[in-house]
Amino acid sequence: MSNEAADSLMAANSLMAANPLMAADSPPAVIPLEEDAFWQDPYPILSRIRDQHRTGTTDAGLKAILRWDDAEDLLKGDLFENEGLEYIERRGFRPGDALYEWRRHSIGALNGADHARIRSLVSRALTHRSVDGLRPRIREHAETLLRNGDADGRIEARTQFATRLPFLAITDFLGIRMDEAVEVAEKMGAGSADAFGPKVTQEIRDNANGMFGAIMEFVAELYEDRRKAPRDDLLTALISSEEGGDRLSHDELIVLFTNIFGGAIETTASVIASGLYEMARHPEQAALLRSDPERWKKGAAEETIRMRPGFYAAGKKAVRAHSAYGLDFEEGEPISLLIGGPNRDPSRWRDPDRFDIQRDPRIWSMTFSMGEHFCLGQALARCEVQEAMVAFVLHCDEIELEGEPRWLPHVMVNRLESLPIRYRPR
Ligand code: HEM
Repeated sequence: MSNEAADSLMAANSLMAANPLMAADSPPAVIPLEEDAFWQDPYPILSRIRDQHRTGTTDAGLKAILRWDDAEDLLKGDLFENEGLEYIERRGFRPGDALYEWRRHSIGALNGADHARIRSLVSRALTHRSVDGLRPRIREHAETLLRNGDADGRIEARTQFATRLPFLAITDFLGIRMDEAVEVAEKMGAGSADAFGPKVTQEIRDNANGMFGAIMEFVAELYEDRRKAPRDDLLTALISSEEGGDRLSHDELIVLFTNIFGGAIETTASVIASGLYEMARHPEQAALLRSDPERWKKGAAEETIRMRPGFYAAGKKAVRAHSAYGLDFEEGEPISLLIGGPNRDPSRWRDPDRFDIQRDPRIWSMTFSMGEHFCLGQALARCEVQEAMVAFVLHCDEIELEGEPRWLPHVMVNRLESLPIRYRPR
Protein backbone atom coordinates (compact mmCIF):
# COMPACT_ATOMS: atom_id res chain seq x y z
CA MET A 1 0.00 0.00 0.00
CA SER A 2 1.36 3.49 -0.85
CA ASN A 3 2.07 6.03 1.89
CA GLU A 4 -0.79 8.17 0.63
CA ALA A 5 -3.19 5.23 0.80
CA ALA A 6 -1.97 4.28 4.29
CA ASP A 7 -2.38 7.89 5.47
CA SER A 8 -5.89 8.08 4.12
CA LEU A 9 -6.83 4.77 5.74
CA MET A 10 -5.57 6.13 9.06
CA ALA A 11 -7.48 9.36 8.48
CA ALA A 12 -10.65 7.40 7.75
CA ASN A 13 -10.16 5.23 10.82
CA SER A 14 -9.66 8.22 13.08
CA LEU A 15 -12.79 9.78 11.56
CA MET A 16 -14.71 6.65 12.54
CA ALA A 17 -13.30 6.74 16.03
CA ALA A 18 -14.46 10.35 16.35
CA ASN A 19 -17.99 9.59 15.17
CA PRO A 20 -20.04 7.49 17.58
CA LEU A 21 -22.74 6.96 14.92
CA MET A 22 -20.39 4.84 12.80
CA ALA A 23 -20.56 1.18 13.55
CA ALA A 24 -17.27 0.09 15.10
CA ASP A 25 -17.07 -3.01 12.91
CA SER A 26 -18.08 -1.40 9.62
CA PRO A 27 -15.33 -1.17 6.97
CA PRO A 28 -13.55 2.21 6.76
CA ALA A 29 -14.85 4.92 4.48
CA VAL A 30 -12.11 4.66 1.88
CA ILE A 31 -13.16 5.01 -1.74
CA PRO A 32 -10.78 2.72 -3.66
CA LEU A 33 -10.19 4.76 -6.83
CA GLU A 34 -7.00 2.79 -7.47
CA GLU A 35 -8.90 -0.48 -7.87
CA ASP A 36 -10.19 -1.54 -11.25
CA ALA A 37 -13.16 -3.30 -9.64
CA PHE A 38 -14.38 0.02 -8.26
CA TRP A 39 -14.69 1.46 -11.79
CA GLN A 40 -16.57 -1.59 -13.06
CA ASP A 41 -19.31 -1.05 -10.47
CA PRO A 42 -18.73 1.86 -8.09
CA TYR A 43 -22.33 2.17 -6.90
CA PRO A 44 -22.54 -0.49 -4.14
CA ILE A 45 -19.31 0.86 -2.62
CA LEU A 46 -20.47 4.47 -2.76
CA SER A 47 -23.87 3.52 -1.33
CA ARG A 48 -22.36 1.61 1.57
CA ILE A 49 -20.01 4.45 2.50
CA ARG A 50 -22.76 7.07 2.04
CA ASP A 51 -25.18 5.16 4.27
CA GLN A 52 -22.71 4.09 6.95
CA HIS A 53 -20.35 7.06 7.11
CA ARG A 54 -22.04 10.01 5.35
CA THR A 55 -18.78 11.11 3.65
CA GLY A 56 -15.77 9.19 2.34
CA THR A 57 -12.07 9.68 1.68
CA THR A 58 -10.45 8.59 -1.57
CA ASP A 59 -7.41 6.37 -1.39
CA ALA A 60 -5.38 9.48 -2.32
CA GLY A 61 -6.72 11.23 0.80
CA LEU A 62 -9.32 13.52 -0.79
CA LYS A 63 -12.57 14.12 1.16
CA ALA A 64 -15.68 13.13 -0.77
CA ILE A 65 -19.34 14.09 -0.48
CA LEU A 66 -21.84 11.32 -1.15
CA ARG A 67 -25.32 12.28 0.15
CA TRP A 68 -27.93 14.18 -1.82
CA ASP A 69 -28.58 16.83 0.84
CA ASP A 70 -24.88 17.47 1.40
CA ALA A 71 -24.18 17.72 -2.32
CA GLU A 72 -27.05 20.15 -2.87
CA ASP A 73 -25.96 22.27 0.08
CA LEU A 74 -22.37 22.34 -1.16
CA LEU A 75 -23.26 23.33 -4.73
CA LYS A 76 -25.88 25.92 -3.86
CA GLY A 77 -24.04 27.48 -0.93
CA ASP A 78 -21.13 29.92 -0.97
CA LEU A 79 -18.57 28.01 1.10
CA PHE A 80 -17.13 26.06 -1.83
CA GLU A 81 -16.17 27.13 -5.35
CA ASN A 82 -14.54 25.67 -8.43
CA GLU A 83 -10.83 24.98 -8.37
CA GLY A 84 -8.63 27.04 -10.69
CA LEU A 85 -5.10 26.27 -11.78
CA GLU A 86 -4.28 24.32 -8.62
CA TYR A 87 -6.49 21.52 -9.92
CA ILE A 88 -4.15 20.82 -12.83
CA GLU A 89 -1.01 21.72 -10.90
CA ARG A 90 -1.83 18.73 -8.68
CA ARG A 91 -1.93 16.67 -11.85
CA GLY A 92 1.58 17.75 -12.83
CA PHE A 93 0.86 20.57 -15.33
CA ARG A 94 3.01 23.71 -15.17
CA PRO A 95 2.87 27.32 -16.55
CA GLY A 96 3.71 27.27 -20.23
CA ASP A 97 2.06 23.86 -20.78
CA ALA A 98 -0.69 24.22 -23.37
CA LEU A 99 -3.31 22.79 -21.01
CA TYR A 100 -2.23 25.12 -18.21
CA GLU A 101 -2.51 28.20 -20.42
CA TRP A 102 -5.89 27.02 -21.68
CA ARG A 103 -7.21 26.55 -18.17
CA ARG A 104 -6.35 30.14 -17.20
CA HIS A 105 -9.46 31.20 -19.13
CA SER A 106 -11.56 28.07 -18.94
CA ILE A 107 -15.09 28.70 -17.71
CA GLY A 108 -14.92 25.75 -15.31
CA ALA A 109 -11.86 27.25 -13.58
CA LEU A 110 -13.31 30.71 -12.96
CA ASN A 111 -15.53 31.98 -10.16
CA GLY A 112 -17.52 35.11 -9.28
CA ALA A 113 -17.75 38.05 -11.69
CA ASP A 114 -15.20 36.69 -14.20
CA HIS A 115 -17.19 33.49 -14.50
CA ALA A 116 -20.58 35.22 -14.71
CA ARG A 117 -19.37 37.57 -17.48
CA ILE A 118 -18.26 34.71 -19.72
CA ARG A 119 -21.18 32.44 -18.92
CA SER A 120 -23.81 35.09 -19.69
CA LEU A 121 -22.56 35.35 -23.27
CA VAL A 122 -23.53 31.81 -24.18
CA SER A 123 -26.19 30.76 -21.71
CA ARG A 124 -29.09 32.12 -23.78
CA ALA A 125 -28.01 30.18 -26.86
CA LEU A 126 -28.19 26.93 -24.89
CA THR A 127 -31.66 27.04 -23.31
CA HIS A 128 -34.22 24.26 -23.84
CA ARG A 129 -36.19 26.48 -26.20
CA SER A 130 -33.26 27.34 -28.45
CA VAL A 131 -32.03 23.75 -28.50
CA ASP A 132 -35.45 22.24 -29.28
CA GLY A 133 -35.23 23.53 -32.85
CA LEU A 134 -32.43 21.02 -33.42
CA ARG A 135 -34.47 18.04 -32.23
CA PRO A 136 -35.70 16.81 -35.66
CA ARG A 137 -32.14 17.04 -37.06
CA ILE A 138 -30.77 15.10 -34.09
CA ARG A 139 -33.36 12.34 -34.60
CA GLU A 140 -32.54 12.24 -38.31
CA HIS A 141 -28.81 11.91 -37.56
CA ALA A 142 -29.54 9.11 -35.07
CA GLU A 143 -31.63 7.18 -37.61
CA THR A 144 -29.01 7.59 -40.34
CA LEU A 145 -26.20 6.42 -38.05
CA LEU A 146 -28.17 3.33 -37.06
CA ARG A 147 -28.99 2.48 -40.67
CA ASN A 148 -25.34 2.95 -41.72
CA GLY A 149 -23.88 1.11 -38.75
CA ASP A 150 -26.23 -1.84 -39.03
CA ALA A 151 -24.31 -4.91 -40.22
CA ASP A 152 -26.80 -7.77 -40.20
CA GLY A 153 -28.28 -6.90 -36.85
CA ARG A 154 -24.95 -6.09 -35.18
CA ILE A 155 -23.45 -2.75 -34.21
CA GLU A 156 -20.47 -1.53 -32.21
CA ALA A 157 -22.74 1.00 -30.59
CA ARG A 158 -20.16 3.14 -28.84
CA THR A 159 -17.97 4.13 -31.77
CA GLN A 160 -20.54 3.77 -34.57
CA PHE A 161 -23.39 5.52 -32.82
CA ALA A 162 -22.91 6.99 -29.33
CA THR A 163 -19.77 8.98 -30.12
CA ARG A 164 -20.88 10.16 -33.54
CA LEU A 165 -24.26 11.58 -32.61
CA PRO A 166 -23.01 14.29 -30.19
CA PHE A 167 -20.36 15.26 -32.72
CA LEU A 168 -23.01 15.83 -35.40
CA ALA A 169 -25.32 17.62 -32.94
CA ILE A 170 -22.69 20.08 -31.70
CA THR A 171 -21.56 20.74 -35.28
CA ASP A 172 -25.14 21.69 -36.17
CA PHE A 173 -25.54 23.70 -33.01
CA LEU A 174 -22.35 25.70 -33.50
CA GLY A 175 -23.12 26.15 -37.19
CA ILE A 176 -19.58 25.25 -38.15
CA ARG A 177 -18.81 23.42 -41.36
CA MET A 178 -18.34 19.66 -41.23
CA ASP A 179 -14.72 19.86 -42.44
CA GLU A 180 -13.96 22.38 -39.69
CA ALA A 181 -15.70 20.23 -37.08
CA VAL A 182 -13.79 17.13 -38.14
CA GLU A 183 -10.54 19.03 -37.80
CA VAL A 184 -11.47 20.35 -34.31
CA ALA A 185 -12.50 16.84 -33.23
CA GLU A 186 -9.34 15.25 -34.58
CA LYS A 187 -7.17 17.79 -32.81
CA MET A 188 -9.15 17.43 -29.60
CA GLY A 189 -8.85 13.65 -29.84
CA ALA A 190 -10.55 11.05 -27.67
CA GLY A 191 -9.75 11.21 -23.98
CA SER A 192 -8.95 14.93 -23.72
CA ALA A 193 -10.85 14.87 -20.40
CA ASP A 194 -8.45 12.27 -18.98
CA ALA A 195 -6.11 15.09 -17.94
CA PHE A 196 -8.73 15.99 -15.31
CA GLY A 197 -9.13 12.46 -13.96
CA PRO A 198 -7.84 10.97 -10.73
CA LYS A 199 -4.70 9.35 -12.15
CA VAL A 200 -2.73 11.46 -14.62
CA THR A 201 0.41 9.89 -16.11
CA GLN A 202 3.16 11.59 -18.13
CA GLU A 203 1.65 10.05 -21.26
CA ILE A 204 -1.74 11.64 -20.51
CA ARG A 205 -0.01 15.00 -19.82
CA ASP A 206 1.92 14.89 -23.10
CA ASN A 207 -1.20 13.94 -25.05
CA ALA A 208 -3.26 16.66 -23.40
CA ASN A 209 -0.64 19.36 -24.05
CA GLY A 210 -0.38 18.28 -27.69
CA MET A 211 -4.16 18.29 -28.11
CA PHE A 212 -4.84 21.57 -26.35
CA GLY A 213 -1.96 23.35 -28.15
CA ALA A 214 -3.28 22.21 -31.53
CA ILE A 215 -6.88 23.03 -30.74
CA MET A 216 -6.09 26.56 -29.55
CA GLU A 217 -4.14 27.23 -32.74
CA PHE A 218 -6.87 25.84 -34.93
CA VAL A 219 -9.68 27.77 -33.24
CA ALA A 220 -7.57 30.95 -33.50
CA GLU A 221 -7.49 30.35 -37.27
CA LEU A 222 -11.26 29.80 -37.33
CA TYR A 223 -11.64 33.03 -35.41
CA GLU A 224 -9.61 34.99 -37.99
CA ASP A 225 -11.63 33.33 -40.72
CA ARG A 226 -14.94 34.48 -39.19
CA ARG A 227 -13.64 37.99 -38.64
CA LYS A 228 -12.91 38.27 -42.35
CA ALA A 229 -15.99 36.36 -43.53
CA PRO A 230 -18.75 36.44 -40.87
CA ARG A 231 -21.30 33.60 -40.92
CA ASP A 232 -24.56 32.97 -39.12
CA ASP A 233 -22.94 30.94 -36.31
CA LEU A 234 -22.06 31.11 -32.63
CA LEU A 235 -18.40 31.95 -33.20
CA THR A 236 -19.30 34.98 -35.33
CA ALA A 237 -21.87 36.05 -32.71
CA LEU A 238 -19.23 35.80 -29.97
CA ILE A 239 -16.77 37.84 -32.02
CA SER A 240 -19.39 40.58 -32.52
CA SER A 241 -20.16 40.69 -28.82
CA GLU A 242 -16.44 40.90 -28.13
CA GLU A 243 -15.97 43.73 -30.59
CA GLY A 244 -19.17 45.50 -29.53
CA GLY A 245 -18.76 45.50 -25.79
CA ASP A 246 -15.12 44.50 -25.37
CA ARG A 247 -16.33 41.83 -23.00
CA LEU A 248 -14.19 38.87 -24.02
CA SER A 249 -10.49 38.84 -24.75
CA HIS A 250 -9.21 36.98 -27.79
CA ASP A 251 -7.94 34.10 -25.61
CA GLU A 252 -11.14 33.96 -23.56
CA LEU A 253 -13.19 33.64 -26.69
CA ILE A 254 -11.10 30.86 -28.13
CA VAL A 255 -11.17 28.92 -24.86
CA LEU A 256 -14.94 29.39 -24.53
CA PHE A 257 -15.44 27.89 -27.96
CA THR A 258 -13.33 24.86 -27.01
CA ASN A 259 -15.22 24.55 -23.69
CA ILE A 260 -18.47 24.17 -25.59
CA PHE A 261 -17.15 21.91 -28.33
CA GLY A 262 -15.03 19.83 -25.95
CA GLY A 263 -17.68 19.65 -23.20
CA ALA A 264 -20.28 18.39 -25.62
CA ILE A 265 -18.95 15.20 -27.12
CA GLU A 266 -17.33 12.69 -24.74
CA THR A 267 -19.80 13.32 -21.91
CA THR A 268 -22.91 12.97 -24.05
CA ALA A 269 -21.44 9.96 -25.87
CA SER A 270 -20.89 8.31 -22.50
CA VAL A 271 -24.53 8.73 -21.46
CA ILE A 272 -25.94 7.71 -24.84
CA ALA A 273 -23.87 4.50 -24.73
CA SER A 274 -25.17 3.90 -21.20
CA GLY A 275 -28.75 4.36 -22.42
CA LEU A 276 -28.30 1.65 -25.07
CA TYR A 277 -26.59 -0.56 -22.50
CA GLU A 278 -29.59 -0.22 -20.18
CA MET A 279 -32.02 -0.93 -23.04
CA ALA A 280 -30.14 -4.18 -23.74
CA ARG A 281 -30.22 -5.15 -20.05
CA HIS A 282 -33.91 -4.30 -19.55
CA PRO A 283 -35.98 -5.56 -22.51
CA GLU A 284 -39.25 -4.76 -20.72
CA GLN A 285 -38.20 -1.10 -20.37
CA ALA A 286 -37.12 -1.01 -24.03
CA ALA A 287 -40.56 -2.38 -24.96
CA LEU A 288 -42.29 0.28 -22.86
CA LEU A 289 -40.30 3.06 -24.52
CA ARG A 290 -41.02 1.56 -27.96
CA SER A 291 -44.75 1.36 -27.18
CA ASP A 292 -45.08 5.15 -26.72
CA PRO A 293 -41.80 6.99 -27.35
CA GLU A 294 -43.17 10.50 -26.86
CA ARG A 295 -44.59 9.57 -23.49
CA TRP A 296 -41.54 7.74 -22.12
CA LYS A 297 -38.51 9.33 -23.73
CA LYS A 298 -37.89 11.88 -21.00
CA GLY A 299 -38.14 9.20 -18.32
CA ALA A 300 -35.79 6.88 -20.21
CA ALA A 301 -33.17 9.60 -20.71
CA GLU A 302 -33.44 10.97 -17.18
CA GLU A 303 -33.14 7.52 -15.63
CA THR A 304 -29.98 6.83 -17.65
CA ILE A 305 -28.57 10.25 -16.76
CA ARG A 306 -29.21 9.53 -13.07
CA MET A 307 -27.93 5.98 -12.95
CA ARG A 308 -24.89 6.40 -15.21
CA PRO A 309 -23.60 9.96 -14.83
CA GLY A 310 -21.15 10.91 -17.58
CA PHE A 311 -18.69 12.48 -15.14
CA TYR A 312 -17.68 10.41 -12.13
CA ALA A 313 -17.04 13.52 -9.97
CA ALA A 314 -17.12 17.31 -9.72
CA GLY A 315 -14.21 18.98 -7.90
CA LYS A 316 -14.59 22.02 -5.63
CA LYS A 317 -12.50 23.74 -2.94
CA ALA A 318 -13.31 25.41 0.40
CA VAL A 319 -13.49 29.19 0.11
CA ARG A 320 -12.40 29.54 3.74
CA ALA A 321 -11.70 27.33 6.73
CA HIS A 322 -14.93 25.92 8.14
CA SER A 323 -16.69 22.74 9.28
CA ALA A 324 -19.43 21.04 7.30
CA TYR A 325 -20.88 17.54 6.77
CA GLY A 326 -19.05 16.35 9.87
CA LEU A 327 -15.67 17.37 8.42
CA ASP A 328 -13.19 20.21 8.98
CA PHE A 329 -11.91 22.06 5.93
CA GLU A 330 -8.89 24.29 5.57
CA GLU A 331 -9.06 27.30 3.29
CA GLY A 332 -8.52 26.14 -0.31
CA GLU A 333 -8.84 22.46 0.58
CA PRO A 334 -10.15 20.44 -2.36
CA ILE A 335 -13.22 18.24 -2.08
CA SER A 336 -14.75 15.79 -4.49
CA LEU A 337 -18.44 15.29 -5.13
CA LEU A 338 -18.79 11.71 -6.34
CA ILE A 339 -21.92 11.97 -8.42
CA GLY A 340 -22.82 8.29 -8.13
CA GLY A 341 -23.41 8.85 -4.39
CA PRO A 342 -26.20 11.48 -4.45
CA ASN A 343 -27.67 10.05 -7.66
CA ARG A 344 -28.51 6.82 -5.87
CA ASP A 345 -29.48 8.28 -2.53
CA PRO A 346 -32.63 6.50 -1.25
CA SER A 347 -33.70 9.73 0.48
CA ARG A 348 -34.48 11.08 -3.01
CA TRP A 349 -35.32 7.97 -5.07
CA ARG A 350 -37.07 4.88 -3.82
CA ASP A 351 -35.16 1.70 -4.69
CA PRO A 352 -32.44 3.80 -6.37
CA ASP A 353 -30.52 0.90 -7.96
CA ARG A 354 -33.53 -0.15 -10.04
CA PHE A 355 -33.58 1.17 -13.62
CA ASP A 356 -37.13 2.45 -14.10
CA ILE A 357 -38.10 4.81 -16.91
CA GLN A 358 -41.47 5.47 -15.25
CA ARG A 359 -39.95 7.63 -12.52
CA ASP A 360 -40.89 11.31 -12.58
CA PRO A 361 -38.36 12.92 -14.98
CA ARG A 362 -38.79 16.27 -13.24
CA ILE A 363 -36.82 14.94 -10.27
CA TRP A 364 -33.39 15.87 -11.56
CA SER A 365 -30.20 14.18 -10.51
CA MET A 366 -26.76 15.68 -9.81
CA THR A 367 -25.29 14.61 -13.16
CA PHE A 368 -25.20 18.14 -14.56
CA SER A 369 -24.15 19.59 -11.20
CA MET A 370 -26.03 22.60 -9.73
CA GLY A 371 -25.47 26.20 -8.79
CA GLU A 372 -23.24 28.66 -10.63
CA HIS A 373 -21.47 26.06 -12.77
CA PHE A 374 -24.58 24.02 -13.63
CA CYS A 375 -23.80 22.39 -16.99
CA LEU A 376 -24.41 24.87 -19.80
CA GLY A 377 -25.14 22.15 -22.32
CA GLN A 378 -27.67 20.12 -20.30
CA ALA A 379 -30.64 20.98 -22.56
CA LEU A 380 -28.77 19.85 -25.67
CA ALA A 381 -27.43 16.73 -23.93
CA ARG A 382 -30.90 15.76 -22.65
CA CYS A 383 -32.39 16.22 -26.12
CA GLU A 384 -29.68 14.01 -27.66
CA VAL A 385 -30.05 11.22 -25.10
CA GLN A 386 -33.84 11.20 -25.57
CA GLU A 387 -33.71 11.08 -29.37
CA ALA A 388 -30.88 8.54 -29.40
CA MET A 389 -32.75 6.11 -27.15
CA VAL A 390 -35.99 6.43 -29.11
CA ALA A 391 -34.27 5.97 -32.48
CA PHE A 392 -32.45 2.94 -31.08
CA VAL A 393 -35.50 1.06 -29.76
CA LEU A 394 -37.49 1.88 -32.90
CA HIS A 395 -34.71 0.52 -35.09
CA CYS A 396 -33.84 -2.53 -32.99
CA ASP A 397 -35.82 -5.36 -31.41
CA GLU A 398 -34.55 -8.22 -29.22
CA ILE A 399 -31.52 -6.13 -28.20
CA GLU A 400 -28.70 -8.14 -26.60
CA LEU A 401 -25.22 -7.35 -25.37
CA GLU A 402 -22.47 -9.35 -27.06
CA GLY A 403 -20.61 -10.03 -23.82
CA GLU A 404 -20.44 -7.85 -20.71
CA PRO A 405 -18.72 -4.57 -21.66
CA ARG A 406 -15.95 -3.05 -19.49
CA TRP A 407 -15.80 0.49 -18.11
CA LEU A 408 -12.48 2.27 -18.50
CA PRO A 409 -10.89 2.75 -15.08
CA HIS A 410 -9.43 6.02 -13.64
CA VAL A 411 -11.07 8.35 -16.16
CA MET A 412 -13.03 11.54 -15.59
CA VAL A 413 -15.68 10.78 -18.20
CA ASN A 414 -17.13 7.32 -17.52
CA ARG A 415 -16.98 5.34 -20.68
CA LEU A 416 -17.34 1.81 -21.93
CA GLU A 417 -14.37 0.41 -23.81
CA SER A 418 -16.76 -0.79 -26.48
CA LEU A 419 -20.42 -1.73 -26.74
CA PRO A 420 -21.06 -4.57 -29.21
CA ILE A 421 -24.79 -5.17 -29.53
CA ARG A 422 -26.83 -7.77 -31.42
CA TYR A 423 -30.48 -7.19 -32.34
CA ARG A 424 -33.27 -7.97 -34.75
CA PRO A 425 -33.74 -5.05 -37.17
CA ARG A 426 -37.35 -3.81 -37.18
C1 HEM B 1 -24.58 14.08 -20.73
C2 HEM B 1 -23.71 15.01 -21.10
C3 HEM B 1 -23.09 15.99 -20.16
C4 HEM B 1 -22.74 15.85 -18.84
C5 HEM B 1 -22.88 14.61 -17.98
C6 HEM B 1 -22.20 17.12 -18.40
C7 HEM B 1 -21.80 17.38 -17.11
C8 HEM B 1 -21.27 18.58 -16.69
C9 HEM B 1 -20.78 18.84 -15.35
C10 HEM B 1 -20.80 17.84 -14.18
C11 HEM B 1 -20.30 20.11 -15.33
C12 HEM B 1 -19.53 20.74 -14.20
C13 HEM B 1 -20.28 21.59 -13.26
C14 HEM B 1 -19.45 22.05 -12.09
O1 HEM B 1 -18.28 22.53 -12.25
O2 HEM B 1 -19.99 21.99 -11.00
C15 HEM B 1 -20.49 20.67 -16.67
C16 HEM B 1 -20.13 21.94 -17.05
C17 HEM B 1 -20.18 22.40 -18.35
N1 HEM B 1 -20.73 21.75 -19.44
FE1 HEM B 1 -21.56 19.93 -19.42
N2 HEM B 1 -22.19 17.98 -19.47
C18 HEM B 1 -22.74 17.36 -20.55
C19 HEM B 1 -22.96 17.88 -21.81
C20 HEM B 1 -22.57 19.14 -22.22
C21 HEM B 1 -22.79 19.69 -23.53
C22 HEM B 1 -23.59 19.01 -24.65
C23 HEM B 1 -22.19 20.93 -23.55
C24 HEM B 1 -22.13 21.96 -24.66
C25 HEM B 1 -23.08 22.16 -25.54
C26 HEM B 1 -21.61 21.15 -22.22
C27 HEM B 1 -20.94 22.29 -21.85
C28 HEM B 1 -20.55 22.55 -20.55
C29 HEM B 1 -19.88 23.79 -20.16
C30 HEM B 1 -19.49 24.94 -21.09
C31 HEM B 1 -19.67 23.70 -18.77
C32 HEM B 1 -19.01 24.74 -17.86
C33 HEM B 1 -20.10 25.52 -17.13
C34 HEM B 1 -19.56 26.49 -16.09
O3 HEM B 1 -18.48 26.24 -15.54
O4 HEM B 1 -20.23 27.51 -15.85
N3 HEM B 1 -21.88 20.05 -21.45
N4 HEM B 1 -21.08 19.73 -17.47
